[in-house]
Amino acid sequence: MSLMRNWNPRFGDVYFSPDNGLNESRHVFLNGNRLSSRLETALSRGDGEFCIVEAGFGSGLNIYASAVEALRHGTAGRFLSYSVEAHPLTPGQCADLLAPFAHDLPPLESMLERYSMPEPGWNSYALAERGGLSMELELFAGDILDFLADLSRRFAESGRRAHALYLDGHSPRRNPRMWSDGVFSGLAELCAEDCSFATYSASGAVKRGLGKAGFIVRREAGYGEKRHMIRGEYRG
Ligand SMILES: C[S@@+](CC[C@H](N)C(=O)[O-])C[C@H]1O[C@@H](n2cnc3c(N)ncnc32)[C@H](O)[C@@H]1O
Repeated sequence: MSLMRNWNPRFGDVYFSPDNGLNESRHVFLNGNRLSSRLETALSRGDGEFCIVEAGFGSGLNIYASAVEALRHGTAGRFLSYSVEAHPLTPGQCADLLAPFAHDLPPLESMLERYSMPEPGWNSYALAERGGLSMELELFAGDILDFLADLSRRFAESGRRAHALYLDGHSPRRNPRMWSDGVFSGLAELCAEDCSFATYSASGAVKRGLGKAGFIVRREAGYGEKRHMIRGEYRG
């Protein structure tokens, strides 16, 4: 894949690791949230549900890789993902960015066929169904703070809670708006008791901000040239 395609000039940063975005996504977001075993537990009952909230949809790689993991481990229930994107990519741009991973994620193409250019506000996409298992994406086209405020209202009405958080808003140095105290406290409001989080950023400001918002922060080996990443749980 050309580096140009993976480059977001608006923030002077890449969408994902130029080394291998899928391996990075699996290392940081899926394994950081212990996704496989948790999906297996949650999606083996008819009434089971697993809900991911992501800050920064980009090409959708993290969500698609997670949905494929749900297909691999789940037999019944709902896989729900909520994400936000201030500057949505076109379906063609997403397909170009994700093309190198289609071989490793066989259901990816059919999921991408279901993606259309989002309108401002909420957009619903059915990613896949199999037997009693459904996979859904609710994508908010707009700013992170509007997304969090609206999602908090939706969760209060439905009683739904997040089980895993993906913090993927470009480098905090280049995009501090995605890593503010308001974002961390907004995310904390959405958490189920056992909610986990993961991110590639191990910056001091991010660790302190998450700690202040009620998260236990643990440092682990990062992906590729990043020495560290952080993961952890909401302590309520
Ligand atoms: C590192 S990329 C996300 C990569 C993505 N998760 C993927 O799997 O391809 C960060 C994304 O956050 C978006 N973003 C930046 N600032 C934002 C904001 N204030 N609100 C919502 N999205 C924002 C950017 O446009 C960019 O697409």
